[in-house]
Amino acid sequence: MDKIIALAKRRGFIYPSSEIYGGIAGFWDYGPLGAELKRNIKNEWWKTTVQMRDDVVGLDASIIMNPKVWEASGHLEAFTDPLVECRYCNKRLRADKPDELKEHEKTHPDHIANLWTAPKNFNLLTEVYLGVTEPKQKAYLRGEITQGVFVNFRNVVDSARVKIPFGIAQIGKAFRNEITPGNFTFRSREFEQMELEYFIKPDENDGKKTFEYWKKQRLDWYLSLGMKREKLRFADHEPEKRAHYARYATDIEYDAPFGWSEFEGIHHRGDWDLGRHKLTYRDPESGGEYTPWVIETSGGVDRATLFFLIEAYQELDKRIVLQLHPKLAPMKAAVFPLVANKEELVNKARTVYQMLKKQYMVAWDDRGNIGKRYLSQDEIGTPWCVTIDYDTLKDDTVTVRNRDTTKQERVGIDSLTDYIAQKLV
Ligand code: GAP
Repeated sequence: MDKIIALAKRRGFIYPSSEIYGGIAGFWDYGPLGAELKRNIKNEWWKTTVQMRDDVVGLDASIIMNPKVWEASGHLEAFTDPLVECRYCNKRLRADKPDELKEHEKTHPDHIANLWTAPKNFNLLTEVYLGVTEPKQKAYLRGEITQGVFVNFRNVVDSARVKIPFGIAQIGKAFRNEITPGNFTFRSREFEQMELEYFIKPDENDGKKTFEYWKKQRLDWYLSLGMKREKLRFADHEPEKRAHYARYATDIEYDAPFGWSEFEGIHHRGDWDLGRHKLTYRDPESGGEYTPWVIETSGGVDRATLFFLIEAYQELDKRIVLQLHPKLAPMKAAVFPLVANKEELVNKARTVYQMLKKQYMVAWDDRGNIGKRYLSQDEIGTPWCVTIDYDTLKDDTVTVRNRDTTKQERVGIDSLTDYIAQKLV
């Protein structure tokens, strides 16, 4: 983990938030390469979940909503974690994280028997205050992006000509006042979610089938982007672990350096949410009215980013290589003039660079020798390095070097854009 954190900082993937003031627990900033990686993950998700499907539409709801939303959704009452406090040093931890409790107990070996206060329910919603007149209006930063979808259910049905079964997809920030943020970005207080709420007729069999369908879709999506099957598993929620809205639920977990860890939840929310918001659906054919059921897939963008980084990190013969799937790689290619002091080569390389930049994020490097430039691009996961050399000036071909195999081939400049495009489908 330390190597990933160091690489993330050194190469501009992830920095601690407001670092020059000492940072702030549970908040992170994405640097130039991290912003690209995260954007690529979100774009791939959107493409698979919305663009490629006829039964899903997108939404972008506000972060702050009328506080009544959170009352109706049950979050004000039940969106809690059990909090205990150490009687000796006042450290607050989650009672449902035995490993973290044990770790702390080591610091007070003589007092273990009576170390913790009784668990109290601690609400995770983050409060904000709005307006100019006192008392200011209390509202909440959304604790899940989901409620924005439910409260817009009728708007979408009325405006988008959708018919059940259909889904509403959304990507956006959520906020939780986590008791113990930690494991780098894994448990943050501000994070992004990519969620699908899929509405179906209330029917036990249909509910089970749809739940299983989306489990498979989501697992396949991670596999298609390079996660290894043996590093992923499903973990069904026992009834006592289920969120207040879930009829049944399973997590997709990743075998992280800090243990198997959830990064996406598939939830059967039944009619909980639409029922609480008193929203129904009228079947256009039969005219019958009912409260639809919802199957939800809820992925964490930051956790996926972290796990794709961990999965990609390889040390091969003194090279650090991020073997990111080319679709996720922040830079699709890097362009080098063989040497920096030959104007003809540099000009030609600039032309190739500008040509590729119209389609892709592309890096430019003319420092040091080619070997060092390869190492630098390997470390950030650039799949193809393109070198413009003296032969290029004669025959308009370039050397393309593959990140994973280190093999090189000659490719014509006129087919370079297609060469990369073919590998990105
Ligand atoms: N709408 C359902 C929902 O929010 P959840 O299991 O509480 O379900 C879904 O959260 C996903 O959001 C998690 O699997 C995780 O990837 C991400 N997530 C939740 N809390 C997080 C946190 N504190 N930091 C980073 N990601 C988090």
